[in-house]
Amino acid sequence: MTLQNRQYRLAARPVGLAKHSDWKFTTEAVADPADGQVLVKVLQLSLDPAMRGWMNEGRSYIQPVGIGEVMRAGGVGKVAASKNPGFAAGDLVAGIFGIQEYCLVADAKQSGLHKIDPRMGTPAQWLNALGMPGMTAYFGLLEVGQAKAGDTVVVSGAAGAVGQTVGQVARIKGCRTVGIAGGKAKCDFVVNELKYDACIDYKGGNLRDGLKEHCPKGVDVYFDNVGGEILDTVLTRINRGARIVICGAISQYNNTTPVKGPSNYMMLLVARARMQGMVVFDYADRYGVAIKDIAQWTKEGKFISREDIVPGIENFPATMNKLFSGENFGKLVLKVAEA
Ligand SMILES: NC(=O)c1ccc[n+]([C@@H]2O[C@H](COP(=O)([O-])OP(=O)(O)OC[C@H]3O[C@@H](n4cnc5c(N)ncnc54)[C@H](OP(=O)(O)O)[C@@H]3O)[C@@H](O)[C@H]2O)c1
Repeated sequence: MTLQNRQYRLAARPVGLAKHSDWKFTTEAVADPADGQVLVKVLQLSLDPAMRGWMNEGRSYIQPVGIGEVMRAGGVGKVAASKNPGFAAGDLVAGIFGIQEYCLVADAKQSGLHKIDPRMGTPAQWLNALGMPGMTAYFGLLEVGQAKAGDTVVVSGAAGAVGQTVGQVARIKGCRTVGIAGGKAKCDFVVNELKYDACIDYKGGNLRDGLKEHCPKGVDVYFDNVGGEILDTVLTRINRGARIVICGAISQYNNTTPVKGPSNYMMLLVARARMQGMVVFDYADRYGVAIKDIAQWTKEGKFISREDIVPGIENFPATMNKLFSGENFGKLVLKVAEA
């Protein structure tokens, strides 16, 4: 019997938050791999805030997803059949597979197809701390943020995929760590499990007062995952020579009006500070270093990860939108099939 592949394709460019009608759920037969190709059975998919940006027309660090194309997504899967000598049936692999049940990988390099070691982590952990968000956190903090022992590091989106690793790496490197997250449950997790020194609930409390209380010596590194008002407020507390890592601006991704830039940017002048954007893919040749460190810290009991796994490919549209309402608690993963 021919295998069937269910897929989510982009039907329209969304205005604001993506709606059901922006997607098309399709089914097609799975083709056998030709020479050089690898057929991957997708197990779990990474749902990322960046996906919202990939749905827009316009210049970015990557081509937008075309109308009618399978929605781009990173994932973990198992090789179902291979005509590529680098991969064999049964290999556990990661790569850019898209929101679908099977991915026929024509160009292994372009799809970032690589084997992963199941002894080092679960598929979801390979999409989290050992994968793209973990790499973003590690290189963003240490390379762009230049965090060093004694620094006060503030992290927004602290309970999320990137934020959970940023704070833990900063703590391991000897920094004072202050998270910002939405709600008591997330703030409790950030302090009690991720072992940040403090966490400010930006929804329930006053961010300005929280920063004064928890950063008595000011802010040396601000790792910004959210942009908007929160970025503006943190800028008022930065120290001389501070580094602001522009990792993302999730508060702005569904705007139907222009992105809100920081009105307090003159604090950069006053503090001789710098603000720098980053894209994780620029560090790809050194992912191995970060993976080794994170795996070692995990083994030593200094590092944990939290994933929020939602089953069912058919639930993709509503699940992706959880990122923007803050309903995800930890790295958001869509489970497509059992390992
Ligand atoms: N530059 C890169 O290479 C790169 C790579 C990966 C990710 N990123 C960026 O890193 C950021 C975090 O990504 P992630 O995968 O770790 O997501 P995540 O933190 O796991 O999930 C998104 C979280 O953002 C918070 N949020 C949503 N809307 C918000 C708003 N209006 N104001 C403040 N917070 C809001 C919510 O947490 P609360 O409940 O705490 O509000 C939500 O749970 C995103 O901006 C993403 O685009 C950048």
